[in-house]
Amino acid sequence: MKIFTYSYRADEVEFFKTFSKKYEVEIQYCKEAPTPQNAGLAKGFDCISIITTPVDRGLVDLFFSLGVKFISTRTVGYEHIDTARAAELGMGVGNVSYSPNSVADYTIMLILMATRKMRSIMERAHVQDYSLKRVRGIELQKLTVGVIGTGRIGQTVIQHLSGFGTNIIAYDPHPVDFLSEQGIYRTMEEVLEQSNIITLHVPSTEENFHLINKDTISRMKNDVYIINTARGTLIDHEDLISGIENRKIAGAALDVIEEESDLFYQDLKCEIISHRQLAVLKSFPNVIITPHTAFYTDQAVSDMVENSIRSCMEFIKNRIE
Ligand code: COI
Repeated sequence: MKIFTYSYRADEVEFFKTFSKKYEVEIQYCKEAPTPQNAGLAKGFDCISIITTPVDRGLVDLFFSLGVKFISTRTVGYEHIDTARAAELGMGVGNVSYSPNSVADYTIMLILMATRKMRSIMERAHVQDYSLKRVRGIELQKLTVGVIGTGRIGQTVIQHLSGFGTNIIAYDPHPVDFLSEQGIYRTMEEVLEQSNIITLHVPSTEENFHLINKDTISRMKNDVYIINTARGTLIDHEDLISGIENRKIAGAALDVIEEESDLFYQDLKCEIISHRQLAVLKSFPNVIITPHTAFYTDQAVSDMVENSIRSCMEFIKNRIE
């Protein structure tokens, strides 16, 4: 079986080598994301493997006309693919799962960094300001953390957080039994009203679009912290900025922002960037921004590559049978 891989990164090479050998599949690749210009490279391949860059209706049609039968994204989220069009054409689309510790560990780190004012401490230490001015933190043990979304990542965040003695509550429209038994679930309303820290672990869907907005922020506790390692579209960033400016929100740690795809994973040091919300958010001392790196561990990258290959194999095998 043959897979054409887009957005192939140097750090994935060892894993593609190992797993293509293990599963006896042929891999060709290019470093660029799929575009109408380079779609032709996938001609003659059963499957393509991509990451988060958009594969819209036009590209789906193009890949279909080239004989591609399956689009595998080496990511959990798949909102960047026009799945409805793929289904109309009878093409398969698959996402992957990978070690939830990757994102969960990072989320815990961001919670700690935000509540212990780590951005200010590090920036000040860098310029030899070793004073204690306005860097007193708060202890997790005294706080309530609201976890919105209890899929694999949300569950792992809850598991990790339990070691801190924090009061943990959660909302998910589809509760899982073992957490229900622990009495963790509340309504969304209650999570918003009772949490000192809110951490988001839901996918980007129409229902979740701007889940955090003027209205939901107004229902939160004063001095709330907002942590987002899921998707930028979950937060209305204008409303987040207002919430920080009017001191309702004590801090935010964001690994994702809206309209990130032209920025993240690129070295833009010397460029003029037209993303005003990012510029404003970066200017606040109580906001931490990282470039969608929560997933980025050795285990997660290995899982992404292996599971992408496996899902292509599975699809083709089922088609033949
Ligand atoms: C996902 O797997 O959905 C992610 O967010 C990670 C991706 C940016 C590689």
